[in-house]
Amino acid sequence: MARLVVVSNRVGVPDKGARAGGLEVAIRPTLKRRGGVWFGWSGRVAENKPGPAKTVEHDNVSYVTIDLRKDDYQEFYNGFANRVLWPILHYRLDLAEFTRRDLSGYFRVNEFFASNLEKLLRPDDVVWVHDYHLIPFAKALRERGHKNKIGFFLHIPFPPPEILTALPNHERLIPSLGNYDLIGFQTETDADNFSRYLANECGLKRVDDDSFTFDDRVVRVGVFPVGVETEAFGQLARRAIESKFVREVLGSLFGRAMIIGVDRLDYSKGIPERMHAFERFLTSFPGWRGGVTYLQITPHSRSGIPEYAQIARMLGEAVGRINGTFGEASWTPVRYINKSHSRTALAGLYRAARAALVTPLRDGMNLVAKEYVAAQNAEDPGVLILSRFAGAARECAAALLVNPYDPEGVANAIDRALAMRLEERRQRHAVNYKALLRNDLSVWAERFLGTLGHPNLSLLSVEKLAARVQFLHDEINRLEADMAQKR
Ligand code: F6P
Repeated sequence: MARLVVVSNRVGVPDKGARAGGLEVAIRPTLKRRGGVWFGWSGRVAENKPGPAKTVEHDNVSYVTIDLRKDDYQEFYNGFANRVLWPILHYRLDLAEFTRRDLSGYFRVNEFFASNLEKLLRPDDVVWVHDYHLIPFAKALRERGHKNKIGFFLHIPFPPPEILTALPNHERLIPSLGNYDLIGFQTETDADNFSRYLANECGLKRVDDDSFTFDDRVVRVGVFPVGVETEAFGQLARRAIESKFVREVLGSLFGRAMIIGVDRLDYSKGIPERMHAFERFLTSFPGWRGGVTYLQITPHSRSGIPEYAQIARMLGEAVGRINGTFGEASWTPVRYINKSHSRTALAGLYRAARAALVTPLRDGMNLVAKEYVAAQNAEDPGVLILSRFAGAARECAAALLVNPYDPEGVANAIDRALAMRLEERRQRHAVNYKALLRNDLSVWAERFLGTLGHPNLSLLSVEKLAARVQFLHDEINRLEADMAQKR
């Protein structure tokens, strides 16, 4: 088997407290299983010229990281990646702050990454590049003469071309994706938007439904929704709910129902809108006052960017207002915490929570939603309230799907979740859980890497085949249930 080289901006170096969010959750088990290299930024900003790459060996994986110069960090990470691409790819043209300087910093860092990676790259390595920080990375490698198989996976949404074309210089950036052999997205919508961009804006010719010709090469486009380690996370949650930490939290609630929200502080997560909805819930359903506590865990992120500082302020104000208006000496409606928590602690809290509020305004997938489902006790599960604009809504279709822009609708969903009868909770959970089992994390990685390694495999036929198998599977279950009833 060829060596796997994963490239991403953040690298989850073990024991370094590295924070790579959903991306780390997805990549780490795959690399651990297969072995290989994980290459990217160390998370450090060098005062002067950055030194050579550093390598940490752990569990069959080499973690190779490089520092960034201050201006690179500013222009590449804070600038183009997070003040231009992040908002635009999340459909937020209003928040994008484009400068040519940041764009050239972005290209410069991609070149810098490529020049460092090529020092350790072997001709038969399979390279898997992740996320919007590294769109032109394959081009930088190809220009250096590398002919490796290179795949790209976008963890966040890809907007319709009508939005994307508002990005100045998109015609220089986006077509550079044509240097990858396989480009993967979280949902059909993202893949369709990209295919439409390639066909309409770049005039690329379709080879078939999922492939385009780019110069003399074929580029394939596919849908690979990221999953979670469903059973392992469930086991973790079962153990964690007995931990001292979770028992203390539960004890401090004095029997009140807990609603949980866990999100990195980011405007795409819709946290102020969610607070507004919770406020509406307390107003419209006064019977729940004093009987429910909403725990929102929100570690700060990207604090060098003004929009993030602003949302931190807004949230602090909203929480203060809700607690001031509705709170009692013996009851605080919202517990708002900026500390990050271990996966174990979160797993236990998910299992203990009667409902989860996962209401991003736009999200590539959202693994919190999937982990919440995986963590539940199937006999007495909690209810997932999920934004229809999260990629996870495709698989977790039995959640209470809401529009995060509609506070009344979300307030009604909270009431419905808290009042839901056991039978309905069980049914909804079983449907969601089954979907997660079917698309476990290992399926995601193996499908992507399998497709990248087999250029003749038609993506469409794999997808159609999987849908057909699923259909037959569901039919058999239905017939069995019918027969059982008649017996
Ligand atoms: O895909 C989203 C992402 O870029 C992931 O790397 C990670 O989940 C999260 O955002 C963290 O962002 P940052 O690296 O900017 O802290």
